[in-house]
Parts: sequence; C-alpha cells; structure tokens
Amino acid sequence: MKSQQLESHLANLLVVDDTPDNLRLLSTMLSEKGYKVRGVINGEMALKAARSTPPDLILLDITMPQMNGYEVCQHLKADCRTSGIPVIFLSALDQVLDKVQAFAVGGVDYITKPFHLEEVLARVENHLTIQRLQKKLHEQNARLRESEAKEREKSHQLELALQQLQHTQAQLIQNEKMSSLGNVVAGVAHEINNPISFIKGNLCPITEYTEDLLRLVQLYAEDFPNPTAAIQQQLEAIDLTFLRNDLPKLIASMSIGADRIGEIVQSLRNFSRLDQAELKAVDIHEGIESTLMILQHRLKDEADQRIIKVVKEYEALPKIECYAGQMNQVFMNVLTNAIDALQSQKSCAKEAGDSSQIPTITICTKLLSEVQVGIYITDNGPGITEEVQQRIFEPFFTTKKVGQGKGLGLSISYAIVVDEHGGELRCFSVPTQGATLAIGIPIHHSKKRFSK
Ligand SMILES: Nc1ncnc2c1ncn2[C@@H]1O[C@H](COP(=O)(O)OP(=O)(O)OP(=O)(O)O)[C@@H](O)[C@H]1O
Ligand SMILES: [Mg+2]
Repeated sequence: MKSQQLESHLANLLVVDDTPDNLRLLSTMLSEKGYKVRGVINGEMALKAARSTPPDLILLDITMPQMNGYEVCQHLKADCRTSGIPVIFLSALDQVLDKVQAFAVGGVDYITKPFHLEEVLARVENHLTIQRLQKKLHEQNARLRESEAKEREKSHQLELALQQLQHTQAQLIQNEKMSSLGNVVAGVAHEINNPISFIKGNLCPITEYTEDLLRLVQLYAEDFPNPTAAIQQQLEAIDLTFLRNDLPKLIASMSIGADRIGEIVQSLRNFSRLDQAELKAVDIHEGIESTLMILQHRLKDEADQRIIKVVKEYEALPKIECYAGQMNQVFMNVLTNAIDALQSQKSCAKEAGDSSQIPTITICTKLLSEVQVGIYITDNGPGITEEVQQRIFEPFFTTKKVGQGKGLGLSISYAIVVDEHGGELRCFSVPTQGATLAIGIPIHHSKKRFSK
C-alpha cells in the first residue's frame, strides 16, 4: 500500500479546464497531495501536452470553446501515443452531462463541480491504480506471449533436433549393420574356408583309399573263399555287402555337401569383399552376354532344347565406368532369380497341365540420360508379392527351399549397385504377372569407395 501511494504521488497528471479558477483549485489540491500536475486551458494545448509527455491520467473539462472535452478525448483515443491514458471528465452541476457520450468516446469516469477534495482524490487514485494494474497485466501478458513464443520455438528446435537425431541414428544403425555384417561374414568365410578346403582336398584320396581297401577285401575273398570262423563272424557283424554299397554313396554325399559349403563361402566372400575388381569403362552388353553364356545350361533342358526364351532389347549405350566383375555378378544374381522363378512356375504349370505361356526373360537396356543407363530384366514368372518385395534386398532373406537359396543374391547386388556404384536397384512386380528388376548405373563412377 505504501509503495502504491508512493507511486501514485509521483504520478503525472494533466488538468484541462478553460476556467482559470477551477484549474488553479484542482492543480493546487492535487500538487499538495504529491502529484505532478500540468494545467492547460484548452483542447489544442491539452493534445500537444499529452503527446509530448504522456501523463498517467487526464482530468478533462467538457465545456470548452473551440474543441469540447468529448472531441479532445476522441483525438486522444485515436492516437496510439495517448490512447492508453485514462480520461476523467469534469462537468459543472448546472451542465447537462452526457454520461453515455462521455463513456462512448473513451472516458473512464466523471467528476461534477464543485469539487470535493476527497472525491477527486479517491477517483484519481482509483483510476491510477486500475491503470497501473492494467499496465502490469499487459506487461505480464506480453512476457507470457514472449516466453510462450520462446517455448514454442524451443520445442520446434527440439523436434527438429530429434528428427535429425533419429535420422542420423537410423543411418548409423544401417552403416553399423552393414559393416558389422560385412565383418562377420568375412570372418566366417575366412574361418570356414580352410577346414572346408581340407575336407574337399581329402575326399579324393579317401575315395581312392576306400576303393583300394574294398578291392583288397574282394581279392582276399576270391583267393581265400573259406574264411576262418572269426573272419566269418566279423563279415556278418559289419554286413560287408551293405558297407561296400553304402560307403561310396556316403563319400559322394559328403563331397556334394563340401561343394555346397564351398559355394556358400564364395558367396560370402563376394559379399564381404566388394572392392577387389578394377574400375574401368566397359560395354555393359558384353557383361550381360557373358553372363547369359555361363547360364546357358539353365536355359536349356537335358536334350539341349531351349526351355526359356531370352528377348534382348538393347539400345546403343556408351561405355560404363564400373567394376565389371561386380556388375556381372549383379546380372548373374538377377538372371538366376528370373530363371529360378520361371522354373518354379514351369513345374507348377506341369502339375496343373498348363503350358500355354512360353517362359521368357526380357533384357532391355536404355540410355536414361547423359549420365545414367538403365537395365531392366523382366520375367513372366509368378511375380513377387508385396510382402516379399519389402524384404527382397535384405541379406539372408529367401523364399526358396533350404539348400536352394542363400538369400544373398539381391542383397549383394544392392550393395554393388547402390553402395559401390551410386546407382539404383528396384523391383517392380504384379504378382502372377512376372517381375522386373531395374538397375540404374551412372555412366561415370563418382562414388568414393568405402574402406573396409
Ligand atoms: N524374378 C523373381 N521372381 C520371383 N521372386 C523373386 C525374383 N527375384 C527374387 N525373388 C525373390 O527374392 C528372394 C531373394 O532373392 P535373392 O537373390 O536375394 O536370394 P535367393 O535367390 O533366395 O538366394 P541366392 O540368390 O543367395 O541363392 C528370393 O528368394 C525370391 O523369393
Ligand atoms: Mg538369388
């Protein structure tokens, strides 16, 4: 309360009255109470004084020559420098006070003459307090709005940072996944390579040794047709006839298994060592042709009859700067998948007695722009469901039977095309109507190679 009074007493008041006696009376009265009072005798002067040094409150006479109090008030309210100053109207008892108009033009109160000191002070004090509280409220609101805006900005920044973080995290996880997968795969391939070489290397001598031993047993049997009781007993215990039949089969299946492991190791090594071949400008069509050549045996049946038709729609292409060996590996993987798909369909069609459609692979090449070529390998096989399409480039994802697919062909191809060559590899398919694998390769290799 004390500080409020102190503030009020320092308040700046402007008194406007064309009657000098009234002006003097009010000014003295208010000055004595500690207010800083300026007095003016007409509307013009009032506006000027209010604009040059805005007071905290204006006491404004209504009846004045030239510009009456209502007009002065209207001018004050229209000017942003003075619109916030509370105006209390002064009116004589004999004047008809238009209270409605007083409030309509923006007045906050009115005092009737003759003035009673206590009443004037009480009303002035009241409005100054309201004015002060309003100011505080405005300031607080402004501060609130400001801090709200700051908070909004902060949360926006946080949101952006979070998005950035999630993106970076996803990239890091992806990089980490690829590099740790590469390392694991390289390690596994390396570790398996030696023992499998021993096994494969020893299978041949084992075959010979067992054949030799079996021949020897045979010779003994021929030269000594009447074995001793102990030998006879042992012959029955080991079932020599069965053993002689089964042993070569066992070794043959071990050999097939070892070959299969060898193939897997080779795939794994290719997968983890993508940076072996040399970068050079090559004719991509030659690569496709040589791959088709290697795959000939799968395009024909036992009687050497073509069972899968290959349609080539080649456009004239410039030489492509790439790792040719790796690109051939991509063609091999994609073509092998197409052949697998067509053959699985063929066996299904055979079962259903339907052979209307000729299994076909269409290889189409296109110069997409000055900087990119496209290779489209399409088959009219069973196609790929939406669900499988989502996972097709994942390492080890396969829909083939155990032993038929390792699920590495397309993930290796993806790493070669996208990571190594900065190209694109996409799959398009309408299930039951075949599939297209689209490969986009930049004509000039610009991608910095990642080191392993
Ligand atoms: N042309 C195609 N038609 C139908 N399905 C396909 C075709 N190409 C790929 N797929 C599907 O994508 C899967 C993944 O192919 P990917 O080449 O990566 O592995 P895979 O062929 O199963 O095994 P791998 O190539 O390692 O021997 C396949 O199992 C198959 O389901
Ligand atoms: Mg494959």
